[in-house]
Parts: sequence; C-alpha cells; structure tokens
Amino acid sequence: MDPRKRRTAAPPARGKGPEPLPSPSTQNTPLASASSPDLPETPVGTSHNRARSGPVISSESGFPRAPSPVEDVSGDEAVMDFKNKVALITGGAGGIGKAYAEELLKLGAKVSICDLDEENGELLAQQFNHLYGHNRTIFCLCDVTDYPQFEAAFQTTSSVFGGLDIVVNNAGIFNDRFWELEVDVNLNGVIRGTLLALRFMGRDRGGRGGTVVITGSTLGLRPCACVPIYTATKHAIIGFTRSFGDPFHMNLSGVRIIALCPGSTCTENNPEDMKKGILSPAYEPVWRKEYENRPFQPVQNVGRALIHVLVKGTSGSIWTVDNQNPPREVKFTSSP
Ligand SMILES: NC(=O)c1ccc[n+]([C@@H]2O[C@H](COP(=O)([O-])OP(=O)(O)OC[C@H]3O[C@@H](n4cnc5c(N)ncnc54)[C@H](O)[C@@H]3O)[C@@H](O)[C@H]2O)c1
Repeated sequence: MDPRKRRTAAPPARGKGPEPLPSPSTQNTPLASASSPDLPETPVGTSHNRARSGPVISSESGFPRAPSPVEDVSGDEAVMDFKNKVALITGGAGGIGKAYAEELLKLGAKVSICDLDEENGELLAQQFNHLYGHNRTIFCLCDVTDYPQFEAAFQTTSSVFGGLDIVVNNAGIFNDRFWELEVDVNLNGVIRGTLLALRFMGRDRGGRGGTVVITGSTLGLRPCACVPIYTATKHAIIGFTRSFGDPFHMNLSGVRIIALCPGSTCTENNPEDMKKGILSPAYEPVWRKEYENRPFQPVQNVGRALIHVLVKGTSGSIWTVDNQNPPREVKFTSSP
C-alpha cells in the first residue's frame, strides 16, 4: 500500500456518525457459544501462563518451534458455527484481509470490509455479495489512523448487521521510510481497533463478548535488520496481545484477544513492493539476504489460519503461519 494514498480527514463511513452503543442482541450469540453455552469465564488452556514468558525459538530458523502435534485446519468448520457471525476486518480490501474475509464468508459469516481504499473495497463488497449472498458484505471507508472514522465504521457495521462478534485488526504497512505513519497504522491502529472492539463487544460495556484477532508477523518474534521499525511495531503487537489477552481482561469483557503472525505471504503488493520499504539503500544487502530466496506462502494459507485460530485460540495466544504449513501456537518459556 502506498502510504501516500492515506486519507486522514475523510468523512465518516456511509454518513453515519457515532451513536450510543447497541444493546446486546438476542439473535446472534458470541462466537464461542457455537461450541459452548458461553465464552468461558476462565480461558481454557494455559495461554495465561505463557503470557509472562519468552518465546521458544528454534536455533536453525529463528522461527518459533511448532508445538506437537500440529493440527491441520481442515475440518474446523465442522465443529464451529460461523453462520451469521459478524466480522469487521481492517485492511480488508486486499491482501491478507481479503483472504480472511473470503474464508469467513464461505462459512456463512457477515463481513464488514474496513479500508481506506474505497475503490477496491466497494468493488470487492459487490463481488462478495454476488458470490456469497446479498447483503452479507459491506464496505466502510476507514483509515485506522483516524479515530472518529474508525469509530463510525464500528457503529455502521454494528447497526447494519445487528451486532459484532469478531474484529480483525489487520491493516498494516511495510515501509520504514514512512516510519511515523507505519507506527500509527501498525501499532496505534491496532490499539484503536482493540479499544473500540472492547467498547462495542465487551460485556462490561453492555456488549455480548467476542474475539479480536490481530495480524502480527513472524518479525514480531525475531529481529530483522533490514526493517527495524516495522519489526518493532510487530514486536509491540505480541506484548499488547499477551497483556490484553490476560484472563483478567477476558473475565472483565468476555472478549478473547489473539495474534496471528504470518511469515512472508504473497499478496498483490508482495514481494515486488517490499524493497521500497527499507529506510536506506545501504540496507539492501541485508534485505537481499533476508528476502531474495525466501518462499512466499499463498495468501489463502493465512486466510484459512484465521479460521483455525478463531476455533482453537485461547485469549492471549500467539500463532504463526508460514511456509504453507498449518498454524502453530508459539510456546513461551519462563520470564527473564
Ligand atoms: N504480506 C506479508 O508478507 C505479511 C507478512 C506478515 C505480516 N503481514 C501483515 O499482514 C497485514 C496485511 O498485510 P498485507 O500483506 O495483506 O498488505 P496489503 O498491502 O496487501 O494490504 C493491506 C490493506 O490494508 C489497507 N490499509 C493500509 N493502510 C490502512 C489504513 N491506515 N487504514 C485502513 N486500511 C489500510 C490497504 O488499503 C490494503 O487494502 C499487515 O498488518 C502486515 O503487516 C504481512
């Protein structure tokens, strides 16, 4: 995404300004209720123990070791009912966000594509409505650096679809030359989106609970010399998710917070555009070493991984998906 396409002062999506929070709907139930009567008061699993520790990194690749056994994503849809669940996806007009939207729609969810790319977003919503049923996809013009516009997108989504169950904070840019914007989109945008999700879905705020998935990166789990600022934003996502995913917050709000960290993924903009994101031409040798022979997984692999983590992920858990492998939960060792 060319950062110059950014609009910071665009009007609220679809002319609807912020309104009071919707009252909890009785028609749609929280995501987790498809397999259990309600979101558990205490999260299942041990992610909250891991939340105070460091990642286990395999020495040969620098990537987190896979837990064993690694489960395949196939068949998840059979045990989880996504029908009529409402999902808001930032950066949904292209790349990984588009793949997320498509996987959710295939399983019967309703999707709000929130993106600053109005042309592609509107077109995609039309295509998805044609493919997956009318009025199941909407587009909201939304720049995640613009809080009032972001808030309006939440309000519109909630009003049009009668609530909200899943928020995917996915919008991100890979460009250390526009580093202040990069931090504002990749980190502040995720913080804005998560705070809004808690406000619209949190049981303590009159909502019905739900799930937030944040798109991190495997660069959030290891250093990367060619894009240190992008890498810093993705490291911050890990700490943010593990902290807001703590059982304390989960018990308060009924909202799970999970991060999905893709490795290199082939999208409309990658890998061709990636080199444009390095801060200085002097970093090119290290960029070449990092990316030139790296395999880029198909974007659909990440789309399917979203469904997997929505089904399996406990609050505060961190997942990677890379090299076309199924998603893996990152294990963390004890605190320093
Ligand atoms: N593609 C990869 O190799 C890769 C690897 C790891 C993590 N990621 C992460 O995945 C996420 C999606 O990346 P992608 O590769 O699909 O990128 P992309 O450029 O293909 O798509 C990003 C989408 O986000 C939108 N967007 C950009 N800035 C925005 C803003 N301020 N507000 C709202 N929307 C905005 C763009 O219009 C675009 O539709 C990012 O968080 C990225 O850091 C990507």
